[in-house]
Amino acid sequence: MQIQYLGHNTLAIKTSTHNIVIDPFINGNPLIEDKSILDSLEADFILLTHAHQDHVLDAEALAKRTGATIVSNYEIAMHYGAKDIPVHPMNHGGHWSFDFGRVKYVAAVHTSGFADGTYGGEPGGFVIEADGKTIYVAGDTALTMDMKLIPLEYKLDLAIFPIGNNFTMGYQDAVHASDFVQCDRVLGVHYDTFGYIEIDQQAARDAFAAANKQLELLPIGGSLTV
Ligand code: NI
Ligand code: MN
Repeated sequence: MQIQYLGHNTLAIKTSTHNIVIDPFINGNPLIEDKSILDSLEADFILLTHAHQDHVLDAEALAKRTGATIVSNYEIAMHYGAKDIPVHPMNHGGHWSFDFGRVKYVAAVHTSGFADGTYGGEPGGFVIEADGKTIYVAGDTALTMDMKLIPLEYKLDLAIFPIGNNFTMGYQDAVHASDFVQCDRVLGVHYDTFGYIEIDQQAARDAFAAANKQLELLPIGGSLTV
């Protein structure tokens, strides 16, 4: 899998057969000057962790342009299904095998209201298996003991954690999260986009290095491969 970081919690994942976009939020991201990257984004599936605006802002437009299927919790799926977008509803603890691989919707400790106050179900994260690799996209979450359930089932190749603090765990807790999921390779997301979540990137790298772990921080548009 190739994973491209498009700012905040937006990820463009290319498997050998499909394009998956996580939490598309380009138009509202003050760190992205050239919003036209949204126009060329390819998507067969759009996975939404929760209903907050900084995760779903561009989901409807992207789904309508690409014909992608939106995968999320039941309430979010129904929200987009009512807009004639193809959807696949899931809920916590469940797996589904898609054409590209298998997905599990897992717990997150956060909230999930839509911008207009509509209930957006309970927030989650995704474990994605494709091309013989397994990644965990935590979504917005606190450090939670539920993360310890993940290595009972999976051997992760990459964990993608929020590290910006205030609305989610900060990088110190993300070091513990890395222990909980038994994965030492971490991609940090959900930092520096707004004033509330600005971090000292070097301090974050140092905290991981002190625990003999690897924190990757990509420039917007940058990619890594698992
Ligand atoms: Ni959120
Ligand atoms: Mn968020």
